[in-house]
Amino acid sequence: MSRCVIVTGCSRGIGAALVQQLIKENHRVAGCSRNSEAMQELGVEPAFRSVDVRDAEALIRWATDLQEIDMIPDLVIANAGLLNQRQPLWEISSEQFDQVIDVNIKGVANTARAFLPSMIDQQSGTFVALSSGWGRSTSPGVAPYCASKFAVEGLMGALAQELPAGVSAVSLSPGVVHTSMLARALGDEEASQAVEPQQWASQAVDFLLSLGPSQNGQSLSFQR
Ligand SMILES: NC(=O)c1ccc[n+]([C@@H]2O[C@H](COP(=O)([O-])OP(=O)(O)OC[C@H]3O[C@@H](n4cnc5c(N)ncnc54)[C@H](OP(=O)(O)O)[C@@H]3O)[C@@H](O)[C@H]2O)c1
Repeated sequence: MSRCVIVTGCSRGIGAALVQQLIKENHRVAGCSRNSEAMQELGVEPAFRSVDVRDAEALIRWATDLQEIDMIPDLVIANAGLLNQRQPLWEISSEQFDQVIDVNIKGVANTARAFLPSMIDQQSGTFVALSSGWGRSTSPGVAPYCASKFAVEGLMGALAQELPAGVSAVSLSPGVVHTSMLARALGDEEASQAVEPQQWASQAVDFLLSLGPSQNGQSLSFQR
């Protein structure tokens, strides 16, 4: 059965691979990132649009435009994310700290604010926020990122308790996937040992589409 899926942060990495896999499986897909060229390559407006998840109003406009073409999501994947340069906390500028918080926490909340009302109206749908192993344990050099992903876990936990029957929220750690973010975290050589995003996505899509009320509030992992 064809489902309607929204993916934020789909210009590269995990988001791009999820969009490609979902399209391949004939689902109705919409996605955003800040990269307008990449969005044009993926598809037409309003399905694919350049939207910065830090811009709450732009996300609401996008969700409204999607609703007008009957795209009320069965599944939202709040995937857009940012990793800080690996440095001790005291060497990270407040601007960089703010960017990570704005994208990874407020961006997820903005995405929820834009899409959940229509899902609540239709009394079904799942909201998945990408978390991380670093949302459940810590390492040096990634304090802002850890703080943001621990926050995502709290955000999804509380949200799950607020949602009416039929609508669910979960956090998802994808394990370790070979993307530009992973290369930034571990260096090119170590990152290249990880699973490729296309391979991860080819297995993750079925898992993501299977999520529903019985998983509401869970901290999930999908590692390959
Ligand atoms: N790769 C891993 O091993 C791993 C592990 C744990 C968790 N994760 C999580 O998985 C998610 C995807 O990570 P990835 O590895 O695929 O990272 P990535 O390759 O760096 O891709 C990040 C995506 O997020 C988008 N993005 C960043 N800031 C944005 C903004 N303000 N508005 C809209 N889109 C924005 C980027 O697009 P533009 O820059 O074009 O806007 C890009 O498409 C993230 O939430 C990350 O924290 C990844």
